[in-house]
Order: sequence, then structure tokens, then C-alpha cells
Amino acid sequence: MPSSLVTPGDVLKIEQVAHGLKVQTVHSYVEVLAYSPSIIRVRMDKNPLGKDFSYAVVAAPEKVATTWKESADRILFSTDSLDVVILKKPFSIAFYTKEGKLINEDVASMGTSWIGNQVTTYKQLQPEERFIGLGEKTGNLDRKGTGYVNWNNDSYGYAANADPIYSSIPFYIGLHDSLCYGIFMDNTFKSDFNFGASNNRFSSFGADGGEMNYYFIYQKKVADIITDYTALTGRMSLPPLWSLGYQQNRYSYYPDTEVLRIAKTLREKKIPADGITLDIHYMEKYKLFTWDKKRFPHPIDMNKELESMGFKTTVIVDPGIKVEKGYPAYEDGIAKDVFIKYPDGNPYTAEVWPGWCNFPDFTSQKGRDWWADKVRFLAGTGVDGIWNDMNEIASWGNKMPFNVLFDYDGQGATTIGAHNVYALEMARASYEGAKKSFKERPFILTRAGYAGLQRYTAIWTGDNRAEDDHMMAGVRLLNSLGLSGVAFTGMDIGGFTGNPSIGLFARWIQIGAFTPYFRGHTAVNTKSAEPWTFGEEVTEISRNFIGLRYRLIPYIYSNFYQATQNGLPLMRSLAIDYSFDDKIYDTRYQNEYLFGPDLLVLPFESKEKFGEAYFPEGIWYDLYTGAPQKGGVEKILKLAYNKLPVYVKGSSFIPMQSLVQSTQILPKDTLILNIYKGNTDNQYTYYEDDGKSYSYQSGDYYKRDFVYDHENNRIILKKAVGNRNSIFKSIKLVMHGFDNKDHFSIDGHAVGFKKDFVALLTPISKFDPQGVANPLEGEDVLSHVIRNVSDEIVIDLK
Ligand code: GLC
Repeated sequence: MPSSLVTPGDVLKIEQVAHGLKVQTVHSYVEVLAYSPSIIRVRMDKNPLGKDFSYAVVAAPEKVATTWKESADRILFSTDSLDVVILKKPFSIAFYTKEGKLINEDVASMGTSWIGNQVTTYKQLQPEERFIGLGEKTGNLDRKGTGYVNWNNDSYGYAANADPIYSSIPFYIGLHDSLCYGIFMDNTFKSDFNFGASNNRFSSFGADGGEMNYYFIYQKKVADIITDYTALTGRMSLPPLWSLGYQQNRYSYYPDTEVLRIAKTLREKKIPADGITLDIHYMEKYKLFTWDKKRFPHPIDMNKELESMGFKTTVIVDPGIKVEKGYPAYEDGIAKDVFIKYPDGNPYTAEVWPGWCNFPDFTSQKGRDWWADKVRFLAGTGVDGIWNDMNEIASWGNKMPFNVLFDYDGQGATTIGAHNVYALEMARASYEGAKKSFKERPFILTRAGYAGLQRYTAIWTGDNRAEDDHMMAGVRLLNSLGLSGVAFTGMDIGGFTGNPSIGLFARWIQIGAFTPYFRGHTAVNTKSAEPWTFGEEVTEISRNFIGLRYRLIPYIYSNFYQATQNGLPLMRSLAIDYSFDDKIYDTRYQNEYLFGPDLLVLPFESKEKFGEAYFPEGIWYDLYTGAPQKGGVEKILKLAYNKLPVYVKGSSFIPMQSLVQSTQILPKDTLILNIYKGNTDNQYTYYEDDGKSYSYQSGDYYKRDFVYDHENNRIILKKAVGNRNSIFKSIKLVMHGFDNKDHFSIDGHAVGFKKDFVALLTPISKFDPQGVANPLEGEDVLSHVIRNVSDEIVIDLK
């Protein structure tokens, strides 16, 4: 064996420590710790284990009841949820269910081993094993047979299958034999994941340095694995309501009159929107924390005017601070010694938009505080959101030297260890600064990041291309981010590089309406790409779908609330709820997802006239017509370019409101509660608060559970909790899938529901080659308005 290859060898010593076991082998030091009954942490190194530190993990180990016993060849370490078997000769680990089923095991002869500083853990490939997640990664939903690298990378106009791109989230979920588990390797060095690529023995994960440090999560459901993972790495906090609305951007809108023209046009054309995003041209020569005096002479006034029209402003920030004598941010950064440096003490200098720049050390408290303080400048000019860009770190040449030093919160690191967390810590500094200086909840966006980024920021998938396959790749990127604990995600609608065809833009804006962060964006040298620039039909399609999004705000906001509680994403790959249904991994169906728990979105490329769809088990309803659709079937759908296929799950609740042009405008005072007939039980939590302050933390919210009790054939709207009154004075119950023979009673009294008609989209003036207007399409439903919006209400469905 080459001397650089080191395997752990046999176990020499075992010792009980707080939360678990300490094991010494011939060549390694190991800790196996229970963080909860379902989460086991494994730490290993060739040297005695060093100080424990993580940028990702915020949870401490719980008090867990564990037992262990030792025999000649093994150690059995148990919690109430799983058994860890440590083989002694040589050292290797396997995880079993309490029923003795194998979940995951090391390749016993390889285990965790080292080649120089590189450390890798090898896991035996299980029959029919699948792998999903791993954050912002291109490729198929099932990653079997492929390998990936984590090294945050500025990826302008990346290929739809490029790797790595901007972000690193070393967390994936494995599935086989009706079992699922998660593995999160918390290591910030360049890392490598192999899901059975170029070999038929193992999946593996490893890094170029640092400890092997992974968390093994076992739960019966994928959703619970995500909940466990986000218990470890944290969850998002409630976003400002306006960030759920449509955001209009391009690289770049300037001067201020142009920004206002865009805002006014959105209003004139009745395309609802909440945000205008300013790209680098708002700054003076791209210098951070400045406004260009000619283009934006009065930013405060401009932002006030936007505010009065119901718009919030998000501005871009890049990490590079221009090296220029007399430029306050630079002078101050040098004086306070906040920039990253070479070992000889000279600041690291690289070229980005403003020219040669220095870069704050966001891995130091001093650097983050400095930045947070600078963010006050943006608050002072009326900015509501911060868009962190270029934080991989991007620079011309795209080859940052490895010998730059970082504080790494007191522990010291070179680029090799700190690169992948730089963006996370930049987003953190922006978030912490904005939390202090913004009057309301800030919106934070980042391009790059590391595991745990959901605590501080939303993320978008960077410089995609205006191409059909990129739109679909984008859907999968967002679904994968969702599997990896990031709920608030988006992609540039319409594509960043290049010019979308009319059909592609139309389809993309429809899909965008069902993504968490909904922003239109395009590059500097492309044609205009606002929704009205693709002709009248696309304007109408955009108005329809952005309008639909706004009507769905009560549903979307409630789903964000869920994400803050259980970490489940807004965009849910079908692998979350239908994990063991082989069909959903079929590449024909792998882009399908649920938006929130109950809306099934079927994205198709714009060129397709027909689409192959798979409906998972259950009952589904066409969102627009209410037509029922049996689950568990494959079907070919005729596609129309004015209408994205979306279906609603049976037994679900979809709360909606009247159309508004901005979330800053109060909707009509009736909540529209859509209830879909089904044959399963369901529970949905509806949530409201003021959408902007932190007063929800002291009880200022309105929350209630809606229960679909199939067995007893009734629906219960539970009593509202929280100190807040609903903004709605009444609730209109809209019953889908029920017919006139269905009789309803409310709280024991028979109630006549009235016949009603619901149309979610307005006809497009002409959308087919013959120029025929599509008819008003909608659904006959039964509805009834109730005035009581707080007490428990029982609706019998007999
Ligand atoms: C980067 C960003 C892009 C932005 C541009 C100019 O390419 O990814 O969104 O428009 O920089 O700031």
C-alpha cells in the first residue's frame, strides 16, 4: 500500500463520553455522538480531534437516552431510533433500524481513509439505492451514477449540467428498500461526492482537508430528514411579505427616472409587483456604499416615491471594496484592518467590477461587524433588501490564490478551508446589519453559500441562460435546494444570458409564479425582458399568472411559516412525499414538484405541444377547471402556451385572497378558502401576521389549523390562536369536487351552499395561430360565506 494511504486499522480503545463514545484505532481518533435519537454524528481524524467548530451547525446535542455494549468483534451503540454497529477489526460503521434492517454501512475494508490530507468515507452501495439533494447541483433528481464537487464557483452562463456552480451544501439523502437516511458532511474544504460514479461498489464523500465530520440522520420519511437537518443547521425566519410578490430587475435599470418608469409601467399595465431590484449601476463607478450622483441624485426621494406606489427596493452589493485613496469604505477598511491578506500582511487584491479591490474578511467578527455597520448607509437611503452577489469570491481570472489568510473565527484558515463559507458569512453580515438598521424585516439574497444559509438569506441560481433546458434545470436546482434545507429560492425568470423566445418567456413566468422567490432578470447586453416586452399575449399571460400568485399569497405565506417551523421547502420535489414511487424519478417526470404541500406543478419546455405527466397516488384536480384526475397514472397532456398545468391534491386547503397589485395593499376582507374533496386525512396550518415587523415573536399573529377528517366526513376549522385579528372579516368556503347531492351542515345546522363559478385566469385576447380568443375557463363550485373567523367551526360533509 502506498504510504500516503491511511486506513483506520483496528480498534484499540473505547471510552464513554458525554453523548456517545470516543474510539481510538491504530491510525485514527473517532467520536460517535447522538445529537438526537435520530441524528448520529461521526467525527474522525488521523490526529487527536481538535476544537469543535462549525459555521453550519447551530444545534447542540440533545439529552438522548443511549446504551452501548461491546463484544469481541463489535460495539453496539443504540438510541430509541437506531442502532450503530462499530466493527472493530478493522474499524467501520454501519447503521441499522431497530428491526435490524441495514440502513447504511461503510465498505468495511475502506471505511474512512486518508490520502495525504484528503479524507473520504466509503459507503457500500445498496441494491437499487438512489441519492437525492446535495444542494444547488445540476443533473437528474436521482443522482445515482454521478459525482459532484463542492467549490463555490462564479459560473457566468453555465451549462445546464455544469458542476460545481455557486453554492456548497454537502448534504444528501439516500433511499433504498423503503428506507431513507440523510448524510451531512460538515466540512468546508473542497469536497467530493460520488454516488456510484465510475464504480459499482460504493458511494463516497470526502474533502481535501479537515476532519471527517458527518451527521447521519435516520427517519422513516424524507420530510422528517429535512426537518432534522434543519434542526441542526437552522431554519429561515419569516420573510417580509413583500418579498413574496413579483420582483422586477435587469442589469441595470438607471437612471432613477427609468426605475420609476418601470414601476409605473407595471402599475399601468396592471401587472402586480412588489419589488424593484437595482443592479451595479446604481453605485458610483461600482463602488460599494455609494449612489451614483448623476444617475441617482436623490435616492431617498426615489425610494419614497417607489414606496408610495407599493414597491420596495433591493440593491446589489458585492464583496469587493475598490482600492482607491480617499474612498471612505476603502480607507475605513484599511484603518480597521478588515481585509483578507496574504501571509506577508499585504491585502489580497483582485479585479472585479470597480477595478482592483480588497475583500472584507467575513469569517471574522470584526469583518462582519464592519460590514453590518456599512449596511446602515443603505438603510439610510430607504433600501429594503440586500442582494449579495459575486461572493464565491468572483474575480476576473476566476482563480483565487490558495495562500490568502482568513480569520475563520479565531482559528485561522487559508483559502482552501475558508473559500466555501465566505459567501455564507457575507450573507450573515448583511442580514445582521440589516436586522439592526432596517426598520422592517429585511430581505436578503445571495448567490453563493454553504450549509445553513437558510438562516440568513434566500438564494438564486445565478447566471442561467435563456434556454428551455436551463429553465428545467433551474426547476431541479430549486427542488434540490429544497431537499437540502433551503426553502427560499429562485432563478432568473426569462434567463440571464441571451434572449428568450416569446414562448419561453411565457412559460418561464408561469413557472416563476410557483417558485418561492419570483424575480425577472436579464443581463446587461440583452433585449428588454419585462413582461410587457414580448407582445400583448405574453403581457396578458404574465398578468394572469402574476395575478394568480398574488391571489395565492395567503397560501404561500402560510407555507413560509411552515418552513420556519419544520424546514420544509416551498418547492417540494415529489421525492419528499412519494419517495418510494419509482415513477417520480423517471427523467420524464423528475421536474414535477409540489408548490407548498398541495399544488402539483408540471413544468414543460416551451416548445412542447404535448407533455408526459405522472400523477402520484391520490386524487387531483385541475387548478383551473376543477376537473378531477385519478392518481397513480401516467398521462399525455395537451399543452397550451398560455397555461401551465397545475393540479391540486384532494383533501387539501388552499387559502386565497382577492387580486391586489402589491402586497402593500389590503385585499378585500374575505378569505377564500378552497377545500378539495378527498379520501385522506389532512391538516393545514394557516398563518397571518403583519408581514413586516418582529411583533409575531411576542404573539402578534393569527394562526389556525384546518383539518380534513376524511373518516368522519367532516372539516374542522380550529379555533384561531395568537393575539392578532385576521385581516379578513369573513371566510368564503369554496367546495371543489363536491356535487349538488352533497349536503353540508355547519356546527350542526344544515346550510345551503350556493352554486358559484370560479375563474382563475382571464381569457387571452388571442393565443393560437388562428387568432381565436380562448373562452373563459373556470369551474362550477359550491360556496358559502361564514362571518365567524376565530372560533372553531365544524363542517359536516354529508
Ligand atoms: C452577476 C450576477 C448578475 C448581475 C451581474 C451584475 O453576473 O449574477 O445577476 O446582474 O453580476 O451585477
